Amino acid sequence: MNSIAVFTSGGDAPGMNACVRSVVRNALHLGLDVYGIKYGYNGMIEGDIHKMKSYSVSNIIQRGGTILKSARSRTFMTLEGRKKAFDQLQKRNIDGLVAIGGDGTFTGANLFYEEYGIPIIGIPGTIDNDLFGSDYTIGFDTAVNTALNAIDSIRDTANSHDRVFFIEVMGRNSGYIAIQCGIGGGAEMVMVPETSTTIDDVIQNLKEGRGKDKTSSIIVVAEGKVHSNAHEIANKVLSELPELDIRVSTLGHVQRGGTPTAFDRILASKLGMAAIEGLISGKKAVMVGIIDNQIQYTNFKIAITKSKPIDENMLRMVKILSI
Ligand code: F6P
Repeated sequence: MNSIAVFTSGGDAPGMNACVRSVVRNALHLGLDVYGIKYGYNGMIEGDIHKMKSYSVSNIIQRGGTILKSARSRTFMTLEGRKKAFDQLQKRNIDGLVAIGGDGTFTGANLFYEEYGIPIIGIPGTIDNDLFGSDYTIGFDTAVNTALNAIDSIRDTANSHDRVFFIEVMGRNSGYIAIQCGIGGGAEMVMVPETSTTIDDVIQNLKEGRGKDKTSSIIVVAEGKVHSNAHEIANKVLSELPELDIRVSTLGHVQRGGTPTAFDRILASKLGMAAIEGLISGKKAVMVGIIDNQIQYTNFKIAITKSKPIDENMLRMVKILSI
């Protein structure tokens, strides 16, 4: 292998830049030529591909977002799109790829590998922490800390006005962000797509709280299909308990940006190094992750099809700690 390219794809995540930096510098250290592809698979198709030097990744380790930009590509999901992308790589003699993103990114990468045989290593970069094959994904820790800062602020006003707050956090179909925020933010309850908490459960919890002289409550709601959104839940609860002063706050994309935490920068640096070392040692079509603090490589097929179970103990903890 002489020449590799790196790209970021799907939703951006804080720490992606630290990861790009690590990939570029580890590859240069081993004597490889390195290209950066802008706008993910779209840039690969369009040939938005640029040689990178050590200084190309200077002063980015602390920055959120991704200097390589990101996109979710429909065209790459077509045979024609992938053919164009492969031609662009061949023109530049690129013989290995590092894809930083989530399950959509790795689904595309796996197809590409199966059709063209080009070695690809995936690095899990998404705030959702929803990938099988890694205990943590890049950006998750920062997103949780950002959400917690917001929850702490909301707690002040919830407490001052004796209010109930439903706070919606991101996570797509995964409750990881919500659970961590529930524990770290001292929430009364957490609602995640993985479990079937009902409106009656919420009402019961709030009634019990009032019975124990709780004057305010925080309920963290994970976005996701199962529970609908925090506004709908709040409206249903209000119709049963009209005496409560209820507010809803949807934290939204604020969770996706900002300075990456130390944890995310270090995780990103480690995974970037392991991706390059994996490529050099002949690994293909795998995602590199960290499990029990050890680097592990998981076949794309497994990483994209197996779901990462939530830790039931964490949910139990929310309940116990909020008595
Ligand atoms: O996958 C990251 C994520 O932020 C999810 O938590 C969320 O559901 C989704 O992306 C939002 O996507 P978009 O930025 O396209 O609105």
